[in-house]
Amino acid sequence: MATKSLAIAMFIVVVSTFVVLGKSSPLLSQESDEDHKIPDIISNSKEFILEEKEAKSGDYCGGKDIVKTIIVNQHGSSSNNGTFTRIQDAIDSIQVNNNRWVKIYIHAGTYKEKVDVRMNKPCIVLEGENRHNTIVTYGDHQKTDTSATFTSSPSNVVVTGITFKNSFNVRLRREIKDEIEEEGKILPAVAARIYGNNTAFYKCGFIGYQDTLFDIIGNHYFKKCYIQGEVDFIFGNGQSFYENCVINATGGELPGFVTAQSRNKSTDEGGFVFERGHVLGSGKINLGRAWGLYSRVIFHGTYFESIITPQGWNAWDHVGQEDKFTYAEVNCKGPGSNTKDRVKWEKKLNYSDMQKFSLSSFVNKDGWLQNLPISLNS
Ligand SMILES: *[C@@H]1O[C@H](CO)[C@@H](O)[C@H](O)[C@H]1NC(C)=O
Ligand SMILES: *[C@@H]1O[C@H](CO)[C@@H](O)[C@H](O)[C@H]1NC(C)=O
Ligand SMILES: *[C@@H]1O[C@H](CO)[C@@H](O)[C@H](O)[C@H]1NC(C)=O
Ligand SMILES: *[C@@H]1O[C@H](CO)[C@@H](O)[C@H](O)[C@H]1NC(C)=O
Ligand SMILES: *[C@@H]1O[C@H](CO)[C@@H](O)[C@H](O)[C@H]1NC(C)=O
Repeated sequence: MATKSLAIAMFIVVVSTFVVLGKSSPLLSQESDEDHKIPDIISNSKEFILEEKEAKSGDYCGGKDIVKTIIVNQHGSSSNNGTFTRIQDAIDSIQVNNNRWVKIYIHAGTYKEKVDVRMNKPCIVLEGENRHNTIVTYGDHQKTDTSATFTSSPSNVVVTGITFKNSFNVRLRREIKDEIEEEGKILPAVAARIYGNNTAFYKCGFIGYQDTLFDIIGNHYFKKCYIQGEVDFIFGNGQSFYENCVINATGGELPGFVTAQSRNKSTDEGGFVFERGHVLGSGKINLGRAWGLYSRVIFHGTYFESIITPQGWNAWDHVGQEDKFTYAEVNCKGPGSNTKDRVKWEKKLNYSDMQKFSLSSFVNKDGWLQNLPISLNS
């Protein structure tokens, strides 16, 4: 019995590994080029100069003012009075190449839709009531490039108080757990994928099982967020700072992986830095495996429950080249933080190495976080 279920579990891990490896490169391909093209900059030269100045001071959307607020209320009327019942309709109503902050306030509710903030809709604040009450959920699966419940492509997007969920594996596991494990049906099923620069999430939730949060590219800040999953559930090559986030590993028969960071060149800026926060859950979990040869993940001052595997990290396809990874745990705490039996190639970073990975030097060089239209400190 034990042997059989272990064999099944190994099969599942092999299958899921295969599926993850089979991800084609981060994909824009399914969407039209139009959606992801950077808006043409401006014929009027005065405006161009203004834009340049703004960019230098970190004011990409004309300062901190919110020029318009749009309301989404699932229980509202869909009559065209400024109140939308679907989030996507509210985004679609914003003018193309918007360059002043527009807020979309989303009332409590479970919104069953895929939401796509396209390249030509920058300068958007999405604000929910809180992450327990404003939930966006969908159950698409199979491909990391098309399954996401929430996609954000432009720069200058701020999201607060919303949970993004991919219900596919989560639902299956709850409802027919044994059956799906035998059939190896756990599949990539992305809750959110983020492509833009200067993108911040505050008090948000991300719920999935395999490939929950596709932190694909751009500089990102996640503060006080909740991230749930089991297999590679924070993955990609974003240049991201996760401050005080709760990471909940929901357990499988074999240990999964919190991260699959895909930095693949020594000059890439990408990497995941976790500052403080809490890794908890059930079963056992590895901190990461190397989706890219120069994979980079640092935990700093994080509290680890006893669920962390002794070895901690996995080289995946890059056995023998482990010296190229930057995997480190600096001043972490809790019963899972003992590094005595960790892989020998875990890096030891000193104080001066860590300067590069502070919030201000890693994701906030130009001060954009001080120029957001809402406070991330409440
Ligand atoms: C818009 O419709 C909603 C829902 O019916 C209503 O509560 C709200 O007062 C309306 N707003 C305006 C400005 O008419
Ligand atoms: C983010 O910044 C990089 C580097 O400046 C740039 O190449 C890229 O196009 C930016 N992304 C977006 C969505 O504007
Ligand atoms: C972690 O996830 C499990 C499964 O969904 C849930 O039962 C548990 O309450 C979560 N823990 C936290 C701290 O949210
Ligand atoms: C390296 O990563 C980038 C971005 O994630 C991707 O587009 C590219 O295909 C990768 N290159 C290799 C050789 O894997
Ligand atoms: C910190 O470590 C780096 C190598 O990672 C080394 O080059 C540097 O001299 C060290 N700095 C101090 C202050 O020990």
